[in-house]
Amino acid sequence: MYKEQLPAGVSRTIQSRLVLPPDTNHMGTIFGGTVLAYIDEIAAIAAMKHSRHAVVTASIDNVNFLSSAKVGDILILEGVVISTGRTSMEVYVKAECQHIESGTRSLTTTAILSMVAVDTEGRPTPVASVVPETENEKRLFENAQERKERRMKANEYAKELC
Ligand SMILES: CC(C)(COP(=O)(O)OP(=O)(O)OC[C@H]1O[C@@H](n2cnc3c(N)ncnc32)[C@H](O)[C@@H]1OP(=O)(O)O)[C@@H](O)C(=O)NCCC(=O)NCCS
Repeated sequence: MYKEQLPAGVSRTIQSRLVLPPDTNHMGTIFGGTVLAYIDEIAAIAAMKHSRHAVVTASIDNVNFLSSAKVGDILILEGVVISTGRTSMEVYVKAECQHIESGTRSLTTTAILSMVAVDTEGRPTPVASVVPETENEKRLFENAQERKERRMKANEYAKELC
């Protein structure tokens, strides 16, 4: 049994990206797939900082594309571990778009990912528990079990479809 506890701040990771033409569609707004790749990367970094292990993405859920970012905007992503299981970690990621000239910021995307810490053989390995710090982290932490049950049902259903 892994007894260590780490505050959520250990994993908190912030990255800024400039939205460039190759990242966008014919309307000049960023591809959802590009945002997902950024989200996956920042979630992996946050989970690695928490677990001090390599991690794999087990699932991505609750992705909400709330508004778009355009060429020339700055995308600011923040990822933090919000709950932990034995070997898995839930990471909450939010992306905000900052318009360069006005400086205004708007929430673009939110997502919750499940990352699993793995050893050098790729086997799941135990992680420390997380202690939420902010009000938002505490709220997300409280609902973690509910999300896990929903995810497990969806996982079983996906396997049945094969
Ligand atoms: C994720 C993975 C390591 C789980 O391996 P496994 O043999 O099912 O291992 P376990 O059953 O012991 O599960 C390990 C943990 O993963 C969690 N898990 C497994 N599948 C999951 C899923 N679809 N969503 C969320 N969590 C999942 C389990 O709940 C468990 O968490 P816990 O230890 O905190 O309770 C394995 O399925 C894998 O390697 N998948 C591919 C990952 C990958 O390559 N991702 C990149 C994109 S393809």
